[in-house]
Amino acid sequence: MDSETLKRQAAARALDWVRSGMRLGLGTGSTARHFVDLLGEKARAGLDVVCVPTSEATRIQAEQCGLRLTTLDETPALDLTVDGADEIDPALNLIKGGGGALLREKIVAAASERMIVIADDSKWVPQLGRFPLPIEIVPFGLAATRLGVAKAARLSADSPELVLRRGKDGHAFVTDGGHFIIDAALRRIDDPPQLAGRLASVPGVVEHGLFIGLANAVILASPQGVRVIERR
Ligand code: A5P
Repeated sequence: MDSETLKRQAAARALDWVRSGMRLGLGTGSTARHFVDLLGEKARAGLDVVCVPTSEATRIQAEQCGLRLTTLDETPALDLTVDGADEIDPALNLIKGGGGALLREKIVAAASERMIVIADDSKWVPQLGRFPLPIEIVPFGLAATRLGVAKAARLSADSPELVLRRGKDGHAFVTDGGHFIIDAALRRIDDPPQLAGRLASVPGVVEHGLFIGLANAVILASPQGVRVIERR
């Protein structure tokens, strides 16, 4: 079974949590894309929901699907966010931001009563860190911020490698918020909350891709079936 089929199965199961009248956060990435597509089908059949997208890409897709959109300014408290992840550990801590939307994703998830993560089982790991951690930074003072990030990362990992993310054109990748992203290859994150605190205290860091205590449940699809893991 290919990974797109698994992602779509996880996305389809997440619809069980959606009710008419809900205010929803829509994630970003290839798995969230399946959810937006399936949600659009339900909305066209009469489901009444209003949605906040976590990226311009998702906003465009949601509009094309006919979903009713709002903003966090108009609707600051959401019922449920459904989003993908790059890594998920057994405590339901996440690495996110592979698609570059981590800042809006975190703001929207934090504004939601519940966050459900949808993923194929390749995202489930015993310990976070194999996927390079995306760290969003302001362009001003890039080199200095990078040194600060390196210092914070060295306290949590042996010889971290930091790479400024680049787009297909070779220029620095720019997020929807106009920021850059450093991808930090750490290999192993022993204490995610501690690293999250260290990174957040570096001036110039806007946000990082560690999502601690935000996910309430994970819907994980594997060739053996779909399982739901709730946070204890
Ligand atoms: C977007 O910035 C990310 O946080 C995505 O949610 C994450 O990268 C998962 O993406 P896929 O569903 O494409 O693997």
